[in-house]
Amino acid sequence: MASNRKLLILPGDGIGPEVMGTVRKVIDWMDRRRAVSFDVDEDLVGGAAIDKHGAPVTDATVDKAMNCDAVLLGAVGGPKWDDLPFERKPERGLLRLRKDLGLYANLRPAICFDALVEASTLKPEIVAGLDIMIIRELTGGVYFGEPRGIETLPNGERRGVNTQVYTTSEIRRVAAVAFDLARKRSNRVCSVEKANVMESGVLWREEVTKLHGEQFSDVELSHMYADNCAMQLVRAPKQFDVIVTDNLFGDMLSDAAAMLTGSLGMLPSASLGDVDESGRRKSLYEPVHGSAPDIAGQGKANPLATLLSYAMSLRYTFDLPEDADLIEQAVNNVLAKGLRTPDIMASGMAAVSTATMTDALIQEL
Ligand code: NAI
Ligand code: MG
Repeated sequence: MASNRKLLILPGDGIGPEVMGTVRKVIDWMDRRRAVSFDVDEDLVGGAAIDKHGAPVTDATVDKAMNCDAVLLGAVGGPKWDDLPFERKPERGLLRLRKDLGLYANLRPAICFDALVEASTLKPEIVAGLDIMIIRELTGGVYFGEPRGIETLPNGERRGVNTQVYTTSEIRRVAAVAFDLARKRSNRVCSVEKANVMESGVLWREEVTKLHGEQFSDVELSHMYADNCAMQLVRAPKQFDVIVTDNLFGDMLSDAAAMLTGSLGMLPSASLGDVDESGRRKSLYEPVHGSAPDIAGQGKANPLATLLSYAMSLRYTFDLPEDADLIEQAVNNVLAKGLRTPDIMASGMAAVSTATMTDALIQEL
């Protein structure tokens, strides 16, 4: 069926094509049973693109990514391409896509599925029902700021330098993503910095507050210092809805928050950029995990992180929250029935294959 929802699928390497197979089946199901259709295009990225075209992503593929509503990516990389020089490695394909699409807002949810409550390292009552979203600024801050480098001082001592830099526009655009998203969730944003000791944090807090007053006063806004936020995330994570923070703090807080509940095979992500002239917000959805060469081709891959990434695209790009709910509920149900790929298997449980997990998901839908 023709559709104006354009999705570009880039399965990539290793288990990428395997987990994307699950998503393709769910997309087919949605077309047949929900009358929700997509124009799906598929292309190569990473090692697969190197093998065919000699580059980890081609200009034509980048073009397609620029002109679709959402990109769904599997994973890239593997031992076959490990000896290539850095600029030609599979990972460069992903980096180029992120850069060319201008993806400055990285979304990392921490969701606790009922059936996995016991698997958390925290007490069940702390994580049961958890559903929070960390938004990390991805293209600015101390990882990119100038000056940077290692220099030798006149006295012979060496000095390493990195600079935390944020402009008002960089702060405002990522904060706008957070406020927008909060409106589709529980309408609360907590902005995180260290305004007590960093000028960039002072500016961050001022600009977020200003933008809130101008355009998003219906959203509840709070501020928190990053060190306190780290503590609160493990003490009482359910107090949060959306957290927005800079590149460095977000790197650490998103990893910590994700691991409150999940294992690598369960973690989705999204990266968002600007809205273009046609009204599309650039977006790329992908699992947090890599290409898992150790289990590739063995039917052992957990497809849930990639499926949940697709569900995020339904919620945040395609404005299909009910369909996103449906998929997340199906994931919850298959887990509740005890189906586990080896990576999330608890003792006393039998592991199922990617294919069995996929069939059970479709059944559940
Ligand atoms: P990895 O995430 O691929 O694997 C780490 C461990 O987790 C492995 O034991 C793997 O079997 C397991 N695992 C990961 N995803 C799983 C899934 N869905 N189901 C079941 N088990 C899963 O990270 P690793 O081993 O450090 O990297 C492998 C390759 O992937 C490298 O070439 C690396 O550069 C690349 N990579 C790519 C990423 C991306 O495309 N975004 C991110 C991270 C790594
Ligand atoms: Mg990290």
